[in-house]
Amino acid sequence: MSIENDLSLIMDYDKNYCLQVFNLLPVAFVKGRGCYLYDTGGRKYLDMIGGIAVNSLGYGHPKLTSAISSQAKNLIHACNYYYIPQKAELAYRLCRASFADKVFFCNSGAEANEAAIKLARGYFYYKDIKKYEIITADMSFHGRTMGTIAATGQAKFSIPFEPGVPGFVHVPFNDIDALIQAVNPRTAAVMLELIQGESGVHPADLEYIQAVRKLCNEKGILLIIDEVQTGVGRTGKMFCYQNYGVTPDIMTLAKGLGGGVPIGAMLTTNEVATGMRPGDHGSTFGGNPLACAAGNAVMETIEDQGIIDNVREVSDELFEKLNKLRSKYNCIRSVRGKGLLIGIEFDDTITAQGMREQLFSMGILVSAIGKTTIRLAPPLIITKSQAGQFVKALEKILKTVSGPRGVLGRLKEAFPSKKDIKDKAAVVGNAKIDKLDEAGLTGGPDLDIIDEDGE
Ligand SMILES: Cc1ncc(COP(=O)(O)O)c(C=O)c1O
Repeated sequence: MSIENDLSLIMDYDKNYCLQVFNLLPVAFVKGRGCYLYDTGGRKYLDMIGGIAVNSLGYGHPKLTSAISSQAKNLIHACNYYYIPQKAELAYRLCRASFADKVFFCNSGAEANEAAIKLARGYFYYKDIKKYEIITADMSFHGRTMGTIAATGQAKFSIPFEPGVPGFVHVPFNDIDALIQAVNPRTAAVMLELIQGESGVHPADLEYIQAVRKLCNEKGILLIIDEVQTGVGRTGKMFCYQNYGVTPDIMTLAKGLGGGVPIGAMLTTNEVATGMRPGDHGSTFGGNPLACAAGNAVMETIEDQGIIDNVREVSDELFEKLNKLRSKYNCIRSVRGKGLLIGIEFDDTITAQGMREQLFSMGILVSAIGKTTIRLAPPLIITKSQAGQFVKALEKILKTVSGPRGVLGRLKEAFPSKKDIKDKAAVVGNAKIDKLDEAGLTGGPDLDIIDEDGE
C-alpha cells in the first residue's frame, strides 16, 4: 500500500494515527530540488524556511545525497562500543572550525542541550563545588525534553508538565543588570541563544554578550551558547558566536549540521570536558556513521564551496530590499536577524498566520512565529534571484493591505461601483490580511512568481 500521492488519505491517516501536536498546513511534499519543494500534486514551492533552518544545502544536493547513499550501502549503524571513522572525522572538523577541543554527538537540539546542562553540572560536581543553577533568558527556546523545557524561558512549554526540573532561573534577555542580580554562589552556567529564533528572531546585543562573557569569567561561571538554530553557516559565519568576538565554554548544534539527517552535537573545551567521565552520558544513535557522513558532507561543502560568502551576499541584498519595503509600507514594524535567519515583524494589522497563508497560496513557504512575525531561514545555497522572488511576492501582498490608497486602488479595479468599494473597504478597513479572501482581494494560486529561474 502506498499513500504517497494521495493528500486526503495522508491527512486522514495523520489525523487518525499521529499524535496531534502540530498545526499542519494542508500539503505534503514528496520531492525537493535546490530551494524548491514539490507537493503531491506536483505544485512547486520556493522554500524560504528550509525545514526550519535544517536543509542547509537545500534539497537533492549531490555531495550530501551521495555521501548518505554510499554510507547507507556500507554501514548505517555500528554502536558506541567501537570506533566510528565518520564520527571521529566530524569531531575533528568541528573542533578545527571552532573554539572546541571535544565533541559529544547526539540526535537533536534538545539532546545537545541536555548534554550541555549535564556537563555544566558535572564540571562543578567533579571539582567538589556546589554549583548547579543554570540562568537562561526569558523568551528563549532550548527544546522539548523535561530538562530543556525547564531551561526554556517560556512557561507555556512547561506548565502542563509540572513539576519541572529544578535549578533553572530566567532573566530578561539583553539585560546585563538583571543577569548580574541573578548570579549567586550556586550559579553554574549562563545559557543563551545569540539570536532567539523561536520567539521572533531577536538578536543579542554585542555589548550584552561581551558583558556576559566578562561576568562569567569573573564569577567562574560557564557560558553555554545554544547554536542549534544559528550554527553551521546560518548567520554568515560558521558559528554565530564568531560574530560577537567571544568564545563560549560549551556550544550546542543540531538542525543545519546534518542538512536534514538528524544529528546533534555538544562542543566544549578540554577543561570543561572533565565534567563527564566514562558512563556519565551516552546515546544509542548519537555519532552513528550515517548521520556523521551527512555532517561531514555538509561541513566540507560549506567550507569548500563558498557557502558562507553566499549567505552574506544574499543576506545583504535581502536585508536591503526588506528595509526598502519597510520604509515604503509602514505595516512592517521591523526586519531583524543575521545572515539567513530573518524575522519580519508586522504591526497588528497583519497576522503572521495570515501572511504565511497568503505566501503559501503564492507558492512560498515561511514560518509564522508569535502573532505578527514571519521567519525566514532558507537553504544557505539560495540565490539572490530566488530571495528577490520572495520579496516580490511579499510586496504584492503588502500593496493590497498597506493602507487606504493601495486598498482602494485594488478595489476600484475589482469593484467599479462606489457602494461596492465602500462595503469591501469596511471589511479590510483594518487590513487584516486573513480577511483578504473574504474581501475578494486574493486570487487563487499564483505560481508565476516562482517560475522565473526555477527548473
Ligand atoms: C535554539 C534552539 N535550541 C534547541 C532547539 C531544539 O531542537 P530539536 O527540535 O532538534 O530538539 C531548537 C529548535 O527549534 C532551537 O531553535
